[in-house]
Amino acid sequence: KILILDFGSQYTQLIARRIREIGVYSEIFSCECSADEIKQFAPNGIILSGGPETVTSGDTPRAPQYVFEAGVPVLGICYGLQTMTEQLGGTVESSSHREFGYAQIRARGHSKLLLDIEDHVSPEGYGLLDVWMSHGDRVTQLPEGFKLIASSDGAPIAGIANEDKDFYGLQFHPEVTHTKQGGRILARFVLEICGCEALWTADNIIEDSIESVRAKVGRDQVILGLSGGVDSSVVAALLHKAIGDQLTCVFVDTGLLRLNEGDQVMAMFAEHMGIKVIRVDAEPRYMAALAGVTDPEQKRKIIGNLFVEIFDEEAAKLTDALWLAQGTIYPDVIESAGAKSGKAHLIKSHHNVGGLPENMKLKLVEPLRELFKDEVRKLGLELGLPADMIHRHPFPGPGLGVRILGEVKKDYADLLRQADAIFIEELYRHDLYSKVSQAFAVFLPVKSVGVMGDGRRYDYVVALRAVETIDFMTARWAHLPYDFLDLVSRRIINEVSGISRVTYDISGKPPATIEWE
Ligand code: XMP
Repeated sequence: KILILDFGSQYTQLIARRIREIGVYSEIFSCECSADEIKQFAPNGIILSGGPETVTSGDTPRAPQYVFEAGVPVLGICYGLQTMTEQLGGTVESSSHREFGYAQIRARGHSKLLLDIEDHVSPEGYGLLDVWMSHGDRVTQLPEGFKLIASSDGAPIAGIANEDKDFYGLQFHPEVTHTKQGGRILARFVLEICGCEALWTADNIIEDSIESVRAKVGRDQVILGLSGGVDSSVVAALLHKAIGDQLTCVFVDTGLLRLNEGDQVMAMFAEHMGIKVIRVDAEPRYMAALAGVTDPEQKRKIIGNLFVEIFDEEAAKLTDALWLAQGTIYPDVIESAGAKSGKAHLIKSHHNVGGLPENMKLKLVEPLRELFKDEVRKLGLELGLPADMIHRHPFPGPGLGVRILGEVKKDYADLLRQADAIFIEELYRHDLYSKVSQAFAVFLPVKSVGVMGDGRRYDYVVALRAVETIDFMTARWAHLPYDFLDLVSRRIINEVSGISRVTYDISGKPPATIEWE
């Protein structure tokens, strides 16, 4: 397994994912971690991530010195290379020549890390690599025992190696896809140089999780809040496989779900998979609690708290249950660590359905805690969940509650559900669903005039929203074909009585958010 020491690069998670795609387990540790924590993890190799700081200032982060004494291979990337250089006695200088974006590097000398990995060959016979660079500082003097293995125009020292110790440093980013041979370089490091075996596969993960869940909960009963989202669905399938009837799921139908979603969840989990699912029809309670409330954050709180209340009531009925299962995934764990250190900013409070009821006296079981989303999806497919469900767009915890602007009413939710279903159905039919990251309809509680046949209509408005994004932090509005939008608009206005106008949202994030509230 590989330890990744995080110096705050936006790419740190990507390094971990790439290593895992190669089939090797990797975990991210803070650059402030102790030698003992590293010893305890017992990695076969260590990767030092990039970071926003400069090592030319004395008060910026350094790797624990133990990293270089642990007797395992080390790969420094960007800031990681620079701090390694500085800590081992070389020199790093700030340069006015910033390099950002594509660069070509020349592989020099023979190095275990880059040997025979190239995109082109120069007339002189050097291997050339197209790579992604993003740096201001650069290494100007190698530490003792190191040799130069790569250079570019902007960074004469773009790669270094001490092959006796298996220490390597790269100024470019092998983890981003723009570096075409990046995957091979990382695979070379973890498989050949660190000697890891590629055992981190969906099959093995499932087997391991099943074993550890069984060992943990024994014969006890477990409850799980099932939302129909990817994470809780995969937990349900996994736990069912591990402990069968010891699992009971609670599915709260808030009345803020998409069209027929409640029935679909029951059909899939209860009928098809034979999992015990308690369905709570909580629509009336939600509508009553939300009556008269217009503030988005307050709506979120009410929806979140009511979920906890209802889940608590159901859990109290299951007197045998000692464990609460949750679909926490690795980015949540990293994010909450970041939140604790004050690095995360709150834009909207994201109450996830399935959030931990406070003061509940249950022990936690979180089988996805170490997994990235793409790994969770692979597991889900392997466990037999339908591909449609696994690749469904994200749906916010408060559901339609934040897609009905202002006060939430059942009538509004019913109209919105129909419009949304038409939009999504057409996206699938036109093979556009998987080309956008998230798509939905938003209900605007304003009336607009229209004519239909000979009659005048005075009905509500919906907005369609579709975005393309990698990380949901920034997004661009999807440039869906006009003909497609035209068709969706016609269908909604013709088929949903109560809606007489359809608009398309052409705002990017930032400054607009993806949801309207
Ligand atoms: P925004 O609107 O902040 O959305 O650009 C980014 C992503 O987060 C989802 N989202 C939420 N998810 N609870 C959730 O579980 C929430 O309160 C919430 N608000 C937004 C949104 O759907 C998008 O995928």
